[in-house]
Amino acid sequence: MTIEDFIPTQYSHEIQQGKVTFKAPSNIALVKYWGKKTDQIPANPSISFTLNACATTTSITYTKLNTRGADFSFDLFFEGKPKEDFKPKIQTFFARIEEYVPFLKEYHLKIETSNSFPHSSGIASSASGMAALALCLMHIEKELCQEMNDDFFSYKASFLARLGSGSACRSIEGSLIQWGYHNDIAGSSNLYGIKYPYDVHKVFHNYHDTILLVDKGQKQVSSTIGHNLMHNHPFAEQRFGQAHENLSKLIPVFASGKLNDFIKIVESEALTLHAMMMASTPYFILMKPNTLQIINKIWEFRKSSGTHLCFTLDAGANVHVLYPENEKAEVYQFIKDELVAFCENGQYICDRIGFGAKKV
Ligand code: DP6
Repeated sequence: MTIEDFIPTQYSHEIQQGKVTFKAPSNIALVKYWGKKTDQIPANPSISFTLNACATTTSITYTKLNTRGADFSFDLFFEGKPKEDFKPKIQTFFARIEEYVPFLKEYHLKIETSNSFPHSSGIASSASGMAALALCLMHIEKELCQEMNDDFFSYKASFLARLGSGSACRSIEGSLIQWGYHNDIAGSSNLYGIKYPYDVHKVFHNYHDTILLVDKGQKQVSSTIGHNLMHNHPFAEQRFGQAHENLSKLIPVFASGKLNDFIKIVESEALTLHAMMMASTPYFILMKPNTLQIINKIWEFRKSSGTHLCFTLDAGANVHVLYPENEKAEVYQFIKDELVAFCENGQYICDRIGFGAKKV
């Protein structure tokens, strides 16, 4: 599909008012998106596990205006309270997507949103938040264009979510979502995420992700700034090439379930992401001492136990511990005994691979 496919020509129905709610999950990238071009086009392809427990639930109550507004008309409530400081981000998002959802200025929107994960846990809510919002908007568009099919609905929701936050386009469906053009992946696109189209071994079906909350504070450097620092970055081209290669290498790994190979790729991706930050101008470090303590503990335990846990990192200090279902008892015990001590206030979130957003 091309960008033009997402520009509606005419709507077949009229709708005065309604309310819709979607719950969209977060996701954790295995091959990382870091660096982008204009219009949220990724500098390299990425792939992620969709999560289950970490999610945003968003409702939109929409009411048709008597006359089309000069600007967007919306109220925003976060966890039941008006949230003025979130509004500029939504305003920017609406301006970016207006061309694709021209009905936006014809309605007043009451947006109510909340997260399943604790407030200020250091977990980014932009992926789940933008995905949930995009899905609610697609529901309104479907009311206006009832012949829309389910595939188009999902692709366009992902397309819109991407314009809000790149990684959000991987939070519409599950359980393994790929985004960004890649030679070896049929149907891959820079415009939206797709369900990974090839064989996935059963060992990945119930994968666990225990998120260790090492630092719950506000990040010093936002992802958006970090992405921009990949422009003129001395290692950018090698890095983008490496992401393509790692994705190619993951194809046989997903099929065979060879976890030792999976671990090498996933951990290397996480460390490379942070290496890019450290090699940016200006340079920055988002890991904390406890992030490194946890990584070392994971390496020691993996060696001594023969289990297959591994770690990955987002653009922050928190550690995602990934492990298969059949090792969960042993690994979870290790996490409780050895790793929770490195978490801020002992906090962590038990999540696992999920199947995508749901209408509530
Ligand atoms: C490190 O999607 O948060 O988590 O597009 O600027 O909103 P924006 O960035 P964002 O970047 C996520 C970066 C990452 C890697 C990933 O999820 O692939």
